[in-house]
Amino acid sequence: MNKKILVTGGAGFVGSHLCGRLSLDTNNEVYSLDNYFTGSKDNHIAGVSYINGSTSQINELVNFNPEYIYHLGEYSRVEQSFDDIEKVWQLNKEGTFSVLQFCRKTGAKLIYAGSSTKFGDGGLDGAKAHMLGRKPVIPS
Ligand SMILES: NC(=O)c1ccc[n+]([C@@H]2O[C@H](COP(=O)([O-])OP(=O)(O)OC[C@H]3O[C@@H](n4cnc5c(N)ncnc54)[C@H](O)[C@@H]3O)[C@@H](O)[C@H]2O)c1
Repeated sequence: MNKKILVTGGAGFVGSHLCGRLSLDTNNEVYSLDNYFTGSKDNHIAGVSYINGSTSQINELVNFNPEYIYHLGEYSRVEQSFDDIEKVWQLNKEGTFSVLQFCRKTGAKLIYAGSSTKFGDGGLDGAKAHMLGRKPVIPS
């Protein structure tokens, strides 16, 4: 039986390469859920099914039970994220919460490393952080 795999952010940089790699295995049925905030249809891979929408709508938009979800569909630009807080909250916090709830409902296994916007001091370079007078740190 084919394995259904969902990649959130499948039209982005990392997600599109992952979709390409996963779809090499003919036992995989690969789906992407992407809102095209930074993603592009130019990154589409033949054989992958693309669902247009945000992770916060995953429950309404994904009408199957994936075995695995690779969660890459998040606001991805660290420096820019400091000036776009509401959008980051919506795309990352609300979106990720919906993905987690969807995993609870369907039993899908989640593969998630986190957006680089959570890296804090690993994201802003020292000079810019100093200029802005902020030094975000990774919570311990
Ligand atoms: N590229 C890197 O070097 C790097 C390093 C560390 C972490 N990351 C993290 O990996 C993930 C992917 O990075 P990337 O470089 O491919 O970024 P990217 O911006 O190219 O891809 C993110 C994709 O997610 C989509 N997206 C954003 N929010 C969404 C949402 N709420 N619902 C559905 N789709 C959404 C975008 O449209 C885009 O296609 C991000 O979380 C990023 O922070 C990337």
